Order: sequence, then C-alpha cells, then structure tokens
Amino acid sequence: MWSVVRSISLASLVASTVTAQLSFVASVKQDGKDVDASSLNFVPIPPLGHRRHWTRPRRGEHRATERDVVSYSSNWCGASQHTAESDGFSNVLGYFTAPDLTLRPGTPAPQFAAAWVGIDGAECNTTLLQAGVTTIVNSNGGQSASAWWEWYPEASFTIDGLKVKAGDWISVNITAKSESSAVLIIENKQSGTSVTMEVNNGPKLCRRDAEWILEDFYESGQQVALANFADLWFVDSGATTVGGKKVGFDGAAMVHMQNEDGKVLCSPEPYDNSNFVIVSQP
Ligand SMILES: *[C@@H]1O[C@H](CO)[C@@H](O)[C@H](O)[C@H]1NC(C)=O
Ligand SMILES: *[C@@H]1O[C@H](CO)[C@@H](O)[C@H](O)[C@H]1NC(C)=O
Repeated sequence: MWSVVRSISLASLVASTVTAQLSFVASVKQDGKDVDASSLNFVPIPPLGHRRHWTRPRRGEHRATERDVVSYSSNWCGASQHTAESDGFSNVLGYFTAPDLTLRPGTPAPQFAAAWVGIDGAECNTTLLQAGVTTIVNSNGGQSASAWWEWYPEASFTIDGLKVKAGDWISVNITAKSESSAVLIIENKQSGTSVTMEVNNGPKLCRRDAEWILEDFYESGQQVALANFADLWFVDSGATTVGGKKVGFDGAAMVHMQNEDGKVLCSPEPYDNSNFVIVSQP
C-alpha cells in the first residue's frame, strides 16, 4: 500500500521517465490525495512483441444491424467507435473489471487476456494510445494481473506499484490534449490508488477511433493462449470529441474474436449506449 505523506514538496511526488521519443511524468494518488510516487516503477516492454493491435476482418463476415456493425478480429473483442476527421476524440473513459480468468480446456497454460481502453488503432493504424490490465492464469489456476499503458509504436510500460487483482474494478481515463500529448489516469477502484501519466512527444494521433477491448495479444510475434474469462462489463463508459460531442456504444463496431479455424472465442453484447459486456465462448 502507498503511505500517505502529509507534507511533501511537489518534486518528490513525481517520478519522471524519458524514452527516445516520448517523455512522461507520473504521479500517484490514494483516495484522491497525492502520495509519494518514488516506489512507482515503469518497466518497458518492446511494443512489437506485446499487445500490438492486429485487427482484420475474418471470412468476409460483415453484416450491419440497425444499431451496430458486427465485425470480426483475430485478436480483439469489444467495441470500436469512429468519429469524423473534423471533430476528433479528445477523451475516452472506461470502467471495467480486470480480466478474471479460468483455464480454457485443450489449450496450453499459461493463458492470458488483456482489457484496455484506447484512442486510435483501428481505422488509424499508425498509432494507438491505450491503458489497461493484463491477467495471466497458470496451470494450477492461480492468477496474477498487472496494469500498463502504451502509446504504440512506442514501448509499453508495466506500471509496477499499481497493484491489481483479477476482478478488481478499474477505471481508465485518457485525454488527448493535442495530437502528441495526453493525460492517462488509471485507477484501481478497489484500493483507491490511481496513477496519472502526463505524456508529451507521443506518436501523432489521428483521434479517429475509440476502443473498449479485451485482447488476445501477441508476444514475441506469437499470439498468446486466450483464457476463458468471467463476463467483462464496460460500464458508464464512452468518449468525447474535441467539439464536446458525447459518444457511447450506439452505432459502434461490435468486434467478435475469431481464431484461424473460424471458432468465435468471445463476443461483445450491447446493453445500452454506455454499457456493454464481453462474453467468453469456451
Ligand atoms: C493502414 O492503413 C492504410 C490506409 O488505409 C492502408 O493502406 C495500409 O495497408 C494499412 N496498414 C496495415 C498494416 O493494415
Ligand atoms: C479525466 O481526466 C481529465 C484530466 O486529464 C479530467 O479533466 C476529467 O475530469 C477526467 N474525467 C473523469 C470522468 O474523471
């Protein structure tokens, strides 16, 4: 747990890291109050090997309903929204549970699932600004979860020090302040701990897409084994454009994950404009 420091200078609240391109400053709050961030550690993971988005239509199965567009992906399950170039996304919010996993029979362990919220990465395929939680389940059913953020194609950072457990409620709030600067806030609602990253010099955003996704990600060029997971809700979630337009899940592309054999592994089910659930298909 973070200890609450009552009187502290601003400099010691802040941990700072610089990579080749982007730079960021991070701070920690406990129950809404600034606390010491010195034990916060960001562990970089190469972007090409981890959590890279790789969405593609499968088997030409596209059909539109009145409300939502159904599409298929090899590694994404969830909702993807788009906005006009003239009014890009400025904020995306997601409130969801850290994936709570059980072993998928007939698949080697360990198994995984990542849940995240992001801007771009769909129609805009040059960059993706995202934050979320990855859970791993090992052969005896034990789980561990970790929080992370990434501004693809830059490195992904595991947020060492923000403790998360499978099933914890997590909120992610990403604000694109410009095409290359953003504020990401990831909070474990269970523990009341939140981490804020203020990022500059990021890869140029298009701000055309917003996503709420469960992912079977790639590691070292290989897709990891997807676990079964408890129903994963995104609640009270949505996006806002620069012009102040609120966007929910109505009319979103609802993305189903389908493997090479055509088997559907998970599906999003619409509930209303600000809530939907992702269901595992064992
Ligand atoms: C990215 O999008 C561009 C323009 O729509 C397209 O030509 C290109 O093939 C896409 N790249 C990938 C890797 O999907
Ligand atoms: C999201 O974060 C921004 C600051 O970056 C803040 O202004 C806004 O109120 C936050 N939204 C919510 C719903 O907490």
